[in-house]
Amino acid sequence: MSSYLITGASKGIGFEFVRQLATDTTNTVLAVVRNPDSLNISKFASSHPNVHLIKGDVMDPKSLLEAASAAAAITGGKLDVLIHNSNAVDMATMPYTPSQFPFDVQATRDMFEPSLNTAIYGGLWTTNAFLPLIEKGVQKKIVHISSGMADLDLIKKSGLSYAVAYSVSKAGMNVQVAKYATELAPKNIKVLALSPGWVDTWEGEMPSEVAQANQFMLEQFRAEDPSLQGQIRPEESVRKSLEVIEGLDSEKSGSFMSHNGNRVDWF
Ligand SMILES: NC(=O)c1ccc[n+]([C@@H]2O[C@H](COP(=O)([O-])OP(=O)(O)OC[C@H]3O[C@@H](n4cnc5c(N)ncnc54)[C@H](OP(=O)(O)O)[C@@H]3O)[C@@H](O)[C@H]2O)c1
Repeated sequence: MSSYLITGASKGIGFEFVRQLATDTTNTVLAVVRNPDSLNISKFASSHPNVHLIKGDVMDPKSLLEAASAAAAITGGKLDVLIHNSNAVDMATMPYTPSQFPFDVQATRDMFEPSLNTAIYGGLWTTNAFLPLIEKGVQKKIVHISSGMADLDLIKKSGLSYAVAYSVSKAGMNVQVAKYATELAPKNIKVLALSPGWVDTWEGEMPSEVAQANQFMLEQFRAEDPSLQGQIRPEESVRKSLEVIEGLDSEKSGSFMSHNGNRVDWF
């Protein structure tokens, strides 16, 4: 009988966390979304009494404080596990390598902004908004969804010179997680940066340029894992991630690991 709160629950991995956690009807699952009318999640919540939709935008601190009040009203002021999953990127400049960034202050900020806003500032505001509930929870776990793209060995081995703002932001997230873990250890609160693997969360038909980019990445990732076949499904990613979260203890707190529970198998 545990309570979970997931940000960015409208689709992809966030939605899958909600779906799998809701199958245990003793769980209370709080799905934080920017738009509670989003079709999939609102339909799902309406047929699962243990799922509660809460409006919240991780880029907006006020909305997170309101979301925390709404969550407290549902759970009686406590929360066992917080999963900060929301993410945004500037897709147009994802292919840029560092030397391609322009000598233009505003343009450069614009390229970093969505990633920094969700991973770093959003990570702080989300964690701080729900911390009073986590302190009263039983499990006392906070998970930030990171990415293997922030692993230095994987970057070097696979030649991942692009996705600069995304990877830098997730690397910053990993450091922020270690800072939280250090601060919150005396309260027995465990904090983890967790990469969910390489996951197919594309909705609808995949445009050919996205399929081509995926094929390119697959070939790069094979430098790390020659047996890699492609992306995994959200079902597998979340099932394994939940096992890692289940095993999160004070010894592992502050670390960065994959859905496979280590810092080697990123796929
Ligand atoms: N898919 C992968 O291969 C992969 C690999 C490594 C790491 N990850 C990480 O796993 C997480 C989930 O990935 P995904 O592929 O499921 O992503 P996704 O399909 O793009 O979904 C992102 C989610 O974040 C939400 N979001 C965006 N901006 C938000 C904001 N300001 N406030 C609240 N929610 C916001 C989106 O909600 P809206 O519907 O409101 O836009 C959406 O629910 C991300 O942190 C991502 O970096 C994914």
